[in-house]
Amino acid sequence: MTKLRSREWFNNPDDPEMTALYLERYLNYGLTLEELRSDKPIIAIAQTGSDLSPCNRHHLELAQRTREAIRTAGGIALEVPVHPIQETGKRPTAMLDRNLAYLGLVETLFGYPIDGVVLTIGCDKTTPALLMAAATVNVPAIALSVGPMLNGWYKGERAGSGSVIWQARQQLAAGEIDAEEFLVLAASSAPSVGYCNTMGTASTMNSLAEVLGMQLPGCAAIPAPYRERGQMAYYTGLRIVEMVREDLRPSKIMTREAFENAIVINSALGGSTNAPIHLNAIARHLCIELTNEDWERLGHAIPLLANIQPSGQYLGEDFFRAGGVPAVVAELMRAGLLPNPDAICANGKTLAQNNSGIEAADADVIRSVENPLLQDAGFLNLKGNLFDSAIMKTSVIGDAFRRRYLCDPNDPNAFEGRAVVFDGPEVFHETIDDPNLEIDENCILVMRGAGPIGYPGGAEVVNMRPPSYLIKQGIHSLPCIGDGRQSGTSGSASILNASPEAADGGGLAILQTGDRVRVDLNNRAVNVLIADEELADRRRTLENAGGFKAPASQTPWQQMFRDSVQPFSEGMVLRQAPKFQDIERK
Ligand code: FES
Ligand code: MG
Repeated sequence: MTKLRSREWFNNPDDPEMTALYLERYLNYGLTLEELRSDKPIIAIAQTGSDLSPCNRHHLELAQRTREAIRTAGGIALEVPVHPIQETGKRPTAMLDRNLAYLGLVETLFGYPIDGVVLTIGCDKTTPALLMAAATVNVPAIALSVGPMLNGWYKGERAGSGSVIWQARQQLAAGEIDAEEFLVLAASSAPSVGYCNTMGTASTMNSLAEVLGMQLPGCAAIPAPYRERGQMAYYTGLRIVEMVREDLRPSKIMTREAFENAIVINSALGGSTNAPIHLNAIARHLCIELTNEDWERLGHAIPLLANIQPSGQYLGEDFFRAGGVPAVVAELMRAGLLPNPDAICANGKTLAQNNSGIEAADADVIRSVENPLLQDAGFLNLKGNLFDSAIMKTSVIGDAFRRRYLCDPNDPNAFEGRAVVFDGPEVFHETIDDPNLEIDENCILVMRGAGPIGYPGGAEVVNMRPPSYLIKQGIHSLPCIGDGRQSGTSGSASILNASPEAADGGGLAILQTGDRVRVDLNNRAVNVLIADEELADRRRTLENAGGFKAPASQTPWQQMFRDSVQPFSEGMVLRQAPKFQDIERK
């Protein structure tokens, strides 16, 4: 076994004075000298659960099982708090705090006597934040999902997290339900502890953490209240102690090959459009270059196998019973679609060893490659005179969409529409139903000022509903373009995460309502159809007026974040991030 990192603090014969100082305060609540000076690895449980973080709150219970396992395996468990990130509760957006929680955990893992860490993941941004921190400090680490909530039900139908809200919003706008029923519907989708039961960003990122090899096989899909969840917490605690003894670190698990696997699995899961931002960010902290081009090249042609809302019909409990992530991995492997089956996982085995031969227990919930829900379920990487990179899920383009936007009878992949531009989500909500905007079924809704700088952290607002008069006519979605994000639980034809954003000199800043925008999927291009001279004129006018206006920062962290954040296409990481790789690897 390599020398434990914690020995530098607690058992350093070259520096008896500091050793005494480090030791004394950890003794004051009952830990003994024998324990702290033995060769027991000190394992942090990075605790994301709290009363403020309901999605992850069940980790407070699960940590008891993990602690018992760490003790059983011969380690010492120290539970340490992580800055809370609650997707639904945090203003202006939980995305702002992904980098804050990551920074905090980097300091914790680097600056304290910690030999290994259990990352308690769950709600959307907790997974990337914790994996980014573990990647940076590179101490042995294993992730433990809190698990999805049980299936929600309303009037005999599955009610999925987020998805039910998008439907209810439309019903509310159309006058079919009132605010009271909206609330009842929303609450019906959240029947137990755990995170969103749809394949939103939480289920996506927890599943991808398993595919990356950072969780034990089968961990991601177990619903939070199930007995298997507590048992998994125990096995995870046993395993981290062994990982410290084997010196199995994140950099050996989260390799380029592992990220390639995760991109492919994301397509098969119908994973969230937030996944490229988060995976590109985690990779960056391992000095692996991962780009939106990689997402298109590796992920676009992969079929959708997981029949889970919002792309499909079922929810988390169904996914678990059908075999969860291992059944999806096994099916892609059987069809020869998984690029790197030999990638190493936290249990020391390869992805192939962990998952080969597992068959879906329900062929409707997890489809075969021969019978998928959709072909080409991954993302395209688009560019043009409005932005350098944005992603689009083409699988949501249906026949009605083609009829309404097709601009060239000889080309089924070229669309055009009239842009209607909104400066941020507040303006959208105030004006969407204003008839003066003349929004019809051939319009494209554009949201700008919603990127990492414009709306600090990047608003999850590009899934814009049509005006209520169109909904009443049966038009339930319009295509959207934006420099913000879209909730992983919604599913309209959207061009998202446009980088650079309007507030960072991106072309969306000079788009005007009434401009024609052309989307040419064959050439991966999105362009506003106006002459270059006119574009240059508009840009000059904007610059003379002082550039695109974003609201003032409300907190110190918002300003620090804005001063150093990189675009969505680069993972929304802090400019300083790669330098953290120079941290001495202890
Ligand atoms: Fe926390 Fe969806 S809101 S997981
Ligand atoms: Mg979300």
